[in-house]
Amino acid sequence: MDDRQFADWTRLLERHTGLFIAPERRSFLVSGIRTRMREVGCRNYREYYRQLSAGNTQVREWSLLVDELTVHETCFFRHASSMKLVEDVVVPSVFEHRQSLNAWSVGCATGEESYSLAMLLDDFCKKQEGERYFGVTGTDISLPSLQHAREGLYLNRRLQGVRPRFREKYCLPENSHRFRVHPDLRKRVCFSRLNLRDVDQAPFANLDLVFCQNLLIYYDRERRLQIVKRLAECLRPAGVLILGPGELLEWQHPNMERVRYPDTLAYRRTD
Ligand SMILES: C[S@@+](CC[C@H](N)C(=O)[O-])C[C@H]1O[C@@H](n2cnc3c(N)ncnc32)[C@H](O)[C@@H]1O
Repeated sequence: MDDRQFADWTRLLERHTGLFIAPERRSFLVSGIRTRMREVGCRNYREYYRQLSAGNTQVREWSLLVDELTVHETCFFRHASSMKLVEDVVVPSVFEHRQSLNAWSVGCATGEESYSLAMLLDDFCKKQEGERYFGVTGTDISLPSLQHAREGLYLNRRLQGVRPRFREKYCLPENSHRFRVHPDLRKRVCFSRLNLRDVDQAPFANLDLVFCQNLLIYYDRERRLQIVKRLAECLRPAGVLILGPGELLEWQHPNMERVRYPDTLAYRRTD
C-alpha cells in the first residue's frame, strides 16, 4: 500500500466509521484489509475500495472490516489500581448520598470490564443495609464483541484476575473449560453498539462513573481531547471519569478536577 492509497483508505474509514488509523499503524490496516479481501475474493485494494464505497449495500462488509481494524484485547479486572479506585472511593462516595449508581464502560470489547465493575458494585450493594441499585452499560463499535459480551461465556483461563470470592459468587461453571457470568449479575449489565463518533446522539447523561480504558490510545491527541470532553459531559455533578494512566497527558476542563489515587488517571466533575 503506497502513501496515496494509505491516505485514501484512512479518509474513507474515518468518514464512514469514525475510525482513526494513525500512520504508524499502517501494517495493521494492511493486514486487516487483506484479510477481508481474501474473504470476499478481491484481488487488489482498488477493487475492494470500490466495493466498499459503492453505497449502503455493504453494511455487513463494513461491520466485518471494522472488526478486523479494532483491537479487542481485554480481561477481567484488567487495570487493578483503577478497579481499586472504583471499589475504595467511587462506589462508597456515590452511595453515601444516593441509592443508585449508573456506570458506563466505554469500548467494552467482549464485556470483561463491564462485568468486573458489576461485580464490585453488586458486592458493595449486598453488604449495605437498605436497598441499593446499580446498572452498568457496556458499549462498543464491534458487533461480534458485543454478542460475546451478552452471552457472558468465557474460558476458565480468563478467571485469572478474578478474586476467589467473586469466582464463587459470580462465575458459574458451564462445562469443563468454560464458565458463564451469573444470570443475576448479567441482568444488571446491558450492552449496546455505539460508535464513539456518535456519542452526542447517545442517551447518556447524569452518569456516576464513566470508565474508558485502552481505547483512546488508538486516537491522536486532538481526537482524544474531543472524546474525553464528550465523556465528561455525560457525568452528573461529582461523577467520576476513569481513563487509563498515561492515555491523556495534561488534560484540563473547567468543570473537572483530578482525583488523586495511585497509578490511576481519573477526574471528578465539580459543577
Ligand atoms: C483494546 S479494547 C479495550 C477493552 C477494555 N476497555 C479494556 O480496557 O480491557 C478497545 C475496544 O474499543 C473499541 N473501539 C474502538 N474504536 C471505537 C469507536 N470508535 N467506538 C466504539 N468503540 C470503539 C474496539 O472495538 C475494542 O473493543
